[in-house]
Amino acid sequence: MFHKKLDNFPKDFLWGASSAAYQIEGAATEDGKGKSIWDVYAHEKGNTYKGTSGDVAVDHYHKYKEDVGLMKKMGLKAYRFSIAWSRVIPEGVGKVNIKGLKFYHNLIHELEKAHIEPILTIYHWDLPLALQEKYGGWESAKTIAAFKNYAELLFREFGAEVKYWVTINEQNVFTSMGYRWGTHPPKKHSFKLMLLANHHINIANAEVIKLFHQMVPNGMIGPSFGYGPTYAKTSDPEDVLASMNANDFNNNWWLDVYCTGKYPFFCKKQFEKWNIMPEVTGEEQKILEDTEAHPDFLGINYYHGGTFQQNRIQKAVKSEEQESFDKTDPYLEQPKERNANEPEVPMFNNVENSYVDKTQWGWEKDPTGLRIALRQVYEKYHLPIMITENGLGAQDKVVKGKINDNYRISYLSEHIIAMREAITDGVNLLGYCAWSFTDLLSWLNGYSKRYGFVYVDQNDQENGSLKRIPKRSFSWYKNVIKSNGKDLKVEE
Ligand code: BG6
Repeated sequence: MFHKKLDNFPKDFLWGASSAAYQIEGAATEDGKGKSIWDVYAHEKGNTYKGTSGDVAVDHYHKYKEDVGLMKKMGLKAYRFSIAWSRVIPEGVGKVNIKGLKFYHNLIHELEKAHIEPILTIYHWDLPLALQEKYGGWESAKTIAAFKNYAELLFREFGAEVKYWVTINEQNVFTSMGYRWGTHPPKKHSFKLMLLANHHINIANAEVIKLFHQMVPNGMIGPSFGYGPTYAKTSDPEDVLASMNANDFNNNWWLDVYCTGKYPFFCKKQFEKWNIMPEVTGEEQKILEDTEAHPDFLGINYYHGGTFQQNRIQKAVKSEEQESFDKTDPYLEQPKERNANEPEVPMFNNVENSYVDKTQWGWEKDPTGLRIALRQVYEKYHLPIMITENGLGAQDKVVKGKINDNYRISYLSEHIIAMREAITDGVNLLGYCAWSFTDLLSWLNGYSKRYGFVYVDQNDQENGSLKRIPKRSFSWYKNVIKSNGKDLKVEE
């Protein structure tokens, strides 16, 4: 579609920013918090960049008032954060930690005072350790019941104050990293286990959405999914087929289940042949297909898409610039080495896209891909969409007390334009939450890779002053919000 003039952003558009508990809170053992799988994983040698962990992170637990104060100063309309399950139920099930709940009540109260809409993520990867140890985490159906019980507590506690809820963050990423590539906890290498854990999470997601509809009838709930459009490398029909396979597995494998309750047909058939498809009972199929268990909106986390060709070799694509930084890129679809549990003939091969630039970390910069993503998702599922993450990871430098992150401003501007084009195309977009509000711990890249509007003096030795300094992008985004997305210029 071509537009001579772009539509304005809707009047009540939610201009926001995002975070996740493990990446910002710190206070890992304070006030009765239990351990999560990340608390242990990050302390095992070699798992994270320079052994960085969320023990202190950016100390948001103690500095939340200062952080919300900065959000208010910026004029932020919405703030997406996650709850640390083990802070409110230390063992995953059983005893509730009142002090943990109190922290989130205080945070939400502070946001309310600042007229900032809270967007609450129930699960952003930090599973209580006790559930991993007792049940094997998501490999066991018992974790579904624990999750439902945890969500019920949150709906009871926060349902009256919080309208927008995210069930699960990037299920595609953490199941792949945790169970297939072995780069997140529980560090396993089995495609079959990944699909099993993933199936349990699907049921958990559906059950919790159904419960939400009973308990919080005026709210809206949906998962946040890491979406990337899948391009064919050439018009060679074999490459086109490979990109269809990639789309089926990278996107539809999750979104179809969320929105229709059905696993994509061809992929499922392939997995059955490989004997890795989990059994889906009649009872489970029923809950997945129950329309009351389907989302009210879709959260889309967008960083980039992918380009695919028919599988010739199985090899991760890396660029030279990326080499020095990269530990693992969650969006690359091949492991560094083939392991015995992988099928011998993968369904597609992920290659570089020569039409787009890259970030310092080798992530493709593809704003048009955001418009494509929004169009594809909206066309297929016709649900309102909220962009729950989008941002640029970079090595910011403090020069004379200032952070001149013009590269981030350009990146975000281009994506905001793409978003406006998608709105003009007709996509129903509720809001845009940039990743991230403050700098925060990157799961595998420590503090070298920063995303925030607010610089935090924290380093990979985790002994920074934790001082907050708004970056240039802070005042830029403030103007974007004030002008409801019209003013993207950078003030000199
Ligand atoms: C998303 C996650 O995958 O990407 C975030 O939801 C994460 O938690 C973000 O921080 C950026 O990833 P990274 O690896 O660059 O820090």
